[in-house]
Amino acid sequence: MSHEDFPTESPAVVTCGLPYANGDLHIGHLRTYVGGDVYARALESVGQETAFVCGSDMHGTAIAVLAEQRGVEPAELATGYHEQYRETFPEFGVEFDSYGHTDDETNHATTREFVQTLIDEDHVYERSIEVAYDVAADQSLPDRFVEGTCPYCGERARGDECDDGCGRHLEPGEIESPESTITGNPAEYREQEHRFFRVSEFQEYLSSFLDRLEGTANAQNQPREWIEGELRDWCISRDMDWGVDYPGDDEGTDDLVLYVWVDAPIEYVSATKQYTEQVGAETFDWGEAWGVPEADGGFEPFASPETANDGGEIVHVIGRDIIQHHTVFWPAMLRGVGYGEPRAVMASGFMTLDGEGFSTSRDRAVWAQEYLEEGFHPDLLRYYLATNGAFQRDVDFSWEKFRERVNTELVGTVGNFLYRSLLFAYRNFDGVPDATASEPVRAEIEDAVDAVRDGVNDYSVRQVGEAVTDLARFGNEYIQREEPWNLTDDDPDRAAQVIFDCVQLARAVAVLFEPVAPGKAEELWTQLDEDGSVHDTTVEDATRAPSGDLREPTELFEKIEDERVEELNEKLEERVAAATDGDETDGDDADAAETDETETDETAAADGSDVTDLDPVAEDRIGFDQFQELDLRVGEILVADPVEDADDLVRLEVDVGVEERQIVAGIKRLHDTDDLPGTRVVIVANLEPTELFGLESNGMLLAAGEEADLLTTQGDAVPGTQVR
Ligand code: 2FM
Ligand code: ZN
Repeated sequence: MSHEDFPTESPAVVTCGLPYANGDLHIGHLRTYVGGDVYARALESVGQETAFVCGSDMHGTAIAVLAEQRGVEPAELATGYHEQYRETFPEFGVEFDSYGHTDDETNHATTREFVQTLIDEDHVYERSIEVAYDVAADQSLPDRFVEGTCPYCGERARGDECDDGCGRHLEPGEIESPESTITGNPAEYREQEHRFFRVSEFQEYLSSFLDRLEGTANAQNQPREWIEGELRDWCISRDMDWGVDYPGDDEGTDDLVLYVWVDAPIEYVSATKQYTEQVGAETFDWGEAWGVPEADGGFEPFASPETANDGGEIVHVIGRDIIQHHTVFWPAMLRGVGYGEPRAVMASGFMTLDGEGFSTSRDRAVWAQEYLEEGFHPDLLRYYLATNGAFQRDVDFSWEKFRERVNTELVGTVGNFLYRSLLFAYRNFDGVPDATASEPVRAEIEDAVDAVRDGVNDYSVRQVGEAVTDLARFGNEYIQREEPWNLTDDDPDRAAQVIFDCVQLARAVAVLFEPVAPGKAEELWTQLDEDGSVHDTTVEDATRAPSGDLREPTELFEKIEDERVEELNEKLEERVAAATDGDETDGDDADAAETDETETDETAAADGSDVTDLDPVAEDRIGFDQFQELDLRVGEILVADPVEDADDLVRLEVDVGVEERQIVAGIKRLHDTDDLPGTRVVIVANLEPTELFGLESNGMLLAAGEEADLLTTQGDAVPGTQVR
């Protein structure tokens, strides 16, 4: 089933993964929130009724452990960070319609209702399991209170997540060689009664749900392996105080709270409810958006696993480390209570800083507040984050790259076009000359509007951003070609036409730039002397005629000098050195997942089984210069389509940093094409293009052996990096 294009008649809810309220925000965290905000604004700009919601994740052992270390109550710790996030997000233009937290009354109540329905519908059962116990501290060790070895990949794992290894969710009792994080002692396993959600019953449903799911390819493809194997039931209770109490009067549940991953996504619903409370159900009906079963009809089981419940358009924007929770556990919970299902999951790649992971304990980060204190406008970062590669791709931030993109794209292209056009109009025409937009200019704006619409329907925030830069680039070329400054005397009508066109283009830039750069778009709107706020416009407004007046323009963007970058790099280096001094260990960061680039599924494949048939190394050696003639680059597969009628060929679209390439590779029988997007590969980039099966192949993938074991990178090298 494919969904109707946006805008639809149903209300949409765009959510962002809830931040754990346990640390300061850095720009790596902001990627998801900026992405979500750009997407929600763009969705609204194409005419979709949208609520953008989120909240702080207050519960769970990540917070309880830190609170214990700091000697404060979890509620106090989490509330402090919650307040901080609530202030920081709007400072970056991330304007949630509703931002609550998981410990507020609405979320407690909604969670109780959800779980009670699951219990009433027989989706929950009781089972005795072994859980880790610290004898010296005389307490159970849920989740992050225990560390040990991941039973799946052998890496060191923390509680409920193998975040340095295979990334799997771990159930209580699964971790091997458990140790208590409270005393450091080996933990023992003890029997305890817990409650389980029968996720296994939803296997068929989840499989059909994934067929319908839209968003980024990683969110659709990764969960398949989890649900196609044995889908295990999910322990939803924990023996601790901090959390939402396990509901009902079920015997033996007095000491239990719900697992944090139960009440966390329910906050998406709670925050939407709170939005409805603010604006009224006539403006936004949370029940319609979430497809809540009619109050009077009660819960009705679904006809078949293939049938989706009617509801609104739910779009989850998350980091890729929590895909499993959003595409398996959460849709099963929604199904279990009779709500609608998510339409899309957009899962972002991780972010690195100068090619390495962010690290809270080493102070190796660009902190959100620090960025603002350095005097940079939030829209510069928003633009960088939104357009620096596909959303699902890993992105590297460095002050050099930031300066480069600000100076060339925002200053050189967008700002330059706007300033020269508006200044010329202001000085020579005292406003907007009398004319109507010429046909080519109108067509170009309509193409940009279509690009934004397509970006929204393809869940591509990058496309939304690039539509504007492309339009400004067109404007620059147009004004340069037409040279209105040489026409004012000889052909004033033509000069007026060109300048009107430029102001019309500037107006379109303001409207279409609003999702990515809301602050700068509003400044431009003021310079254009337009009524109201640019935030209330839709893409349709891009082609409407300018107001006629102009205010004196100022430059929207300012160049970043090289010295600034040097200064910022030095500051960062000094800070890291100070934080690392005398402490070589990189503690247990809350943000370890951001640095985790391990793709174990890919790396596990090489088994070296053919060693006996190896050819000897060629006798003829080549010189280093000859080797250097090869331009080997890291690439990332974005798209992989089997070539029809060809036995072996797959058509790939590969991001090689500087551009996207089409490469045709003979790997159809050896790889599942669905698994390929997101894979890092090494390609020969300067090979003569060739044609295979009528398709141009521009480069070659490197692979080892008969099984075409694809060469990939072990660390963080970003697409485009040269391999030497
Ligand atoms: O992984 C995390 O940071 C969680 N706090 C995300 C929760 S998202 C949701 F589903 F609630
Ligand atoms: Zn693991």
